[in-house]
Amino acid sequence: MNSNRRACVPFFEEMNRQRLALTYDDILLIPGHAELLPNQVKVGSMFSRNVPLMIPIVSAAMDSVTGSRLAIAMAMLGGLGVIPRHRPPKEQRDEIKRVKFALSGMIREPITVREDETIEAIENMRREKGYRFHSFLVTNSARRVTGLITRSEFRFCRDRSQTAADIMTTELITAEPGTTIEQAYATMCREKKTVLPLIGDDGEFQGMYLFNDVERTMTGSSAGYNLDSQGRLRVAAAIGVGDEALERVSYVVGFADVVVIDTAHADTDSVFATVKEIKKQFGDRIDVVAGNISDRGAAKRLADCGVDGIKVGQGPGSICTTRVVTGVGCPQATAVFNACEAIGADIPICADGGIKFSGDIPKAIGCGGHSVMIGSLLAGTTEAPGEVDFRFGDPVKLYRGMGSKSALEESRASRERYGQAEGYAGGKDALVPEGIEGSVPYSGDLKTVLDQLVGGLRNSMGYIGAANIEELRQKADFWRDTEAGKSESHPHGVKMLRDAPNYRRPE
Ligand code: XMP
Repeated sequence: MNSNRRACVPFFEEMNRQRLALTYDDILLIPGHAELLPNQVKVGSMFSRNVPLMIPIVSAAMDSVTGSRLAIAMAMLGGLGVIPRHRPPKEQRDEIKRVKFALSGMIREPITVREDETIEAIENMRREKGYRFHSFLVTNSARRVTGLITRSEFRFCRDRSQTAADIMTTELITAEPGTTIEQAYATMCREKKTVLPLIGDDGEFQGMYLFNDVERTMTGSSAGYNLDSQGRLRVAAAIGVGDEALERVSYVVGFADVVVIDTAHADTDSVFATVKEIKKQFGDRIDVVAGNISDRGAAKRLADCGVDGIKVGQGPGSICTTRVVTGVGCPQATAVFNACEAIGADIPICADGGIKFSGDIPKAIGCGGHSVMIGSLLAGTTEAPGEVDFRFGDPVKLYRGMGSKSALEESRASRERYGQAEGYAGGKDALVPEGIEGSVPYSGDLKTVLDQLVGGLRNSMGYIGAANIEELRQKADFWRDTEAGKSESHPHGVKMLRDAPNYRRPE
């Protein structure tokens, strides 16, 4: 990546000379000669040094956006979900494991049940943990596998007080640890088995394959999923700084692909020390992305600490009030450009916040981002946490800033994000929110929303003649838009009679 040759450098350097900071609405991409159709472009990118994306979209680490359900759907659609840190480390790890175990070629640490557990207790555990699968290996007191219960054992069990041992099947076909997914597929097809436990010579079980997941991987119907090297969905975990962060990393390492140091201001010694300590203690076992920042110096300092990715954005988010409450921040297009220019190395940048329309995504990438992080546009989906509510007859879902009053009151992690962990002397009433609580229109399934966002990105790349994300970063150049230009860009002089799937008039 040679950032000096990027086409937009002269434009932004000129703007910087005038101290004019711009955001997505201030700029328009200049079309270029194109020999590509939108469906021919490649939209894969990187979130961090070792964590790829099939689509350059990441869901925000916010309690009203990313739970395990949305993270599963995000990864199955090629993106990535960041599980927030508002819950204790163990609960966050459970959420992450739900994503990792939602689908996988091979499950290394299958959830097991004991022979003496009742079916009622096992079903309660399934519900509480939110597990979507029904296959459990059954173990005896010596932790040796003695049987298996699957969906049909649950279905035909008429007495919930029976134990796992009462209903389990003991006719197991097993395989050696180290069995590849291809070998597992062949064995399962031959033996007509949906579960294949891997048992070592000493009788210790070391994982298991599930047929649905193996078949999906082998037949290519998982093409487009964001999978790790073991065929499991990728997922990220938000962490804070200091000891709490290291504790969280120790809980999620092995399950999360990347941790995201989630602070409102990452240009601090505590963030630098945390990055270095994670790298020292966990080495290459997990990537570390840090944010947020919005200027060159901060990006450079983070890069010097050895981060694997940088998140840019101070105040662009739909629910953010940081800029008005503190007077600090930088409009997002300039922030992304400057961070990208400062690094001059292969550290992916995630442009976090402020995406209102699909066209903002190619603009963010054109400025230098490798991915975008989105909150509001995903908070209204079926998969986002919370139920659909009605406001004045319209279906909505609640969406709140992690620095909003209620989030600060409820969660120490939120207070930490905004440097108010211990509160102020005046107690809870003296907390200073930097976000609001609100609602967004209910927008249906995540797939429908992402299809429009990625479709808009593809069309944009077709106009610019960019065959892939890196080409978009290199070729993108911008016009500075005007107020008249902006009103020309939005529908004008016409009353909209029907909702469009990808356009809502700005409020
Ligand atoms: P969008 O625009 O996609 O932005 O809704 C999501 C991003 O906003 C950030 N965030 C906040 N920023 N106060 C802030 O200043 C807050 O309360 C707040 N909550 C979230 C965060 O970076 C998220 O990804």
